[in-house]
Amino acid sequence: SVCLRSLWSSLCHGACVEVDSDTEAVAHEGFKLGCISCKMRGEVPAMAAVNWYFKGSDESDFSHLYSYEDKNGEVIDPRFYERLDWNGSKQTRDLQDGSIYILNVTYNDTGTYKCTFSRILMYSNYEYQTSTTKFIIINVVPRLTRGMASILSEVMMYVSIIGLQFWLVVEMIYCYRKISAAGEEALRESAEEYLAIASESKDNCAGEQVAE
Ligand SMILES: *[C@@H]1O[C@H](CO)[C@@H](O)[C@H](O)[C@H]1NC(C)=O
Ligand SMILES: *[C@@H]1O[C@H](CO)[C@@H](O)[C@H](O)[C@H]1NC(C)=O
Ligand SMILES: *[C@@H]1O[C@H](CO)[C@@H](O)[C@H](O)[C@H]1NC(C)=O
Repeated sequence: SVCLRSLWSSLCHGACVEVDSDTEAVAHEGFKLGCISCKMRGEVPAMAAVNWYFKGSDESDFSHLYSYEDKNGEVIDPRFYERLDWNGSKQTRDLQDGSIYILNVTYNDTGTYKCTFSRILMYSNYEYQTSTTKFIIINVVPRLTRGMASILSEVMMYVSIIGLQFWLVVEMIYCYRKISAAGEEALRESAEEYLAIASESKDNCAGEQVAE
C-alpha cells in the first residue's frame, strides 16, 4: 500500500528523478548545472530555497553565487552577472529542480559548485525542515573531448571497410577472369560435344534408315 501510494503521488505530481549533472562544460557555449532534490514525501506540500556556491580551481573558499527563493532568482557573484539563468522548477515555491544555466562558459568557470536545498515540509500540524547539499566539479574544455577508444574504433572501422572493399574488387576480378576462361573452355567443349552428338545422330539416322 505504501508502494501504491507513492506511485500514485508520483503520477499526480510528476515523477521526480535525481539525475547527476554533467561535469564537462565547453568554453563559449551554454552549460546547465543540474541539481535535483526530490521530496521524500511527494504528497506533502513544501517550500524550498536553492542556493549555489562556487569555488574556483585556484580558490580555497566557496563564495555565494546564486540564490533562488519565492520565484525570484538573484546572481550574487559579480563574475556571473548577466551570464546566469534559472533552469529549475518554475512557477512554484515547491522546488525540486534547482538547476542553473551558464550562458557563456569561460575557462575561469572551472571549479567546484555547491548546490543547497533548504526545504520546509508543511504537515497539517507541524513543519519539518530539511537540507540537502550536492557538489559538482566542473571541468571546462575547448570542445567535447572524445575518448581515445572511440577515435581508435572509428579508424578501425574505416580501415576494415576499405580493406574489405579492396578484397571484394580483387576477388571479383579474379572470379571474372576465371569465369570467362571457363566460359571459353565450355564453349569450345560444347561445340565439340554438339558436333559429336550431331555426328552420332547422323549415324543413328543412317542406321535407322538402313533398318528401314
Ligand atoms: C562569450 O564570451 C566571449 C568572450 O568572453 C565572446 O567573445 C563570445 O562572443 C561570447 N559568446 C556568446 C555566445 O555570448
Ligand atoms: C535553460 O536556460 C537557458 C537560458 O535561459 C535556455 O536557453 C534553456 O532552454 C533552458 N533549458 C531548460 C531545460 O529549461
Ligand atoms: C579569468 O581570470 C583571470 C584572473 O583572475 C582574469 O585576468 C581574466 O580576465 C578572467 N577571464 C575571463 C574570461 O573572465
